[in-house]
Amino acid sequence: MPLIQWNKQLSVGIASIDEQHKKLINMINALNDALAEGQADDILVKIFDALAVYTVKHFGYEEALFSQYGYEETQAHKNEHEALINQIVNLQQKMNDGDFIIGIEVMVFLKEWLLNHILKTDMAYTQFLLSKGVT
Ligand code: FEO
Repeated sequence: MPLIQWNKQLSVGIASIDEQHKKLINMINALNDALAEGQADDILVKIFDALAVYTVKHFGYEEALFSQYGYEETQAHKNEHEALINQIVNLQQKMNDGDFIIGIEVMVFLKEWLLNHILKTDMAYTQFLLSKGVT
């Protein structure tokens, strides 16, 4: 069973963003599967790195919309994005230094962070972006 299961409650009501969130969920699930299968560290690091790249891309997509339409909560939302990126970069540095390998606690952290962020912070922009015609 996947670590995170997509369901309608996770929908922000904007198809382009839902698709990106599904992709993030799939990548976290793939990392969790690889960990559970006992895949080698370098495979885990590759998946983690791809997840980091896609996360930055997704955050950039949202932030471009905020900027384009003048979303009031932009700064607070960007702060949350930045905090996650900093944590991911910190983990990548530790992995590069050989001080850290991906374990279950990272999976719990990623799952909790993503679900909380989508359900609280992302949901808050739904009406605003829909009112601007974003799909
Ligand atoms: Fe969907 Fe604010 O990340």
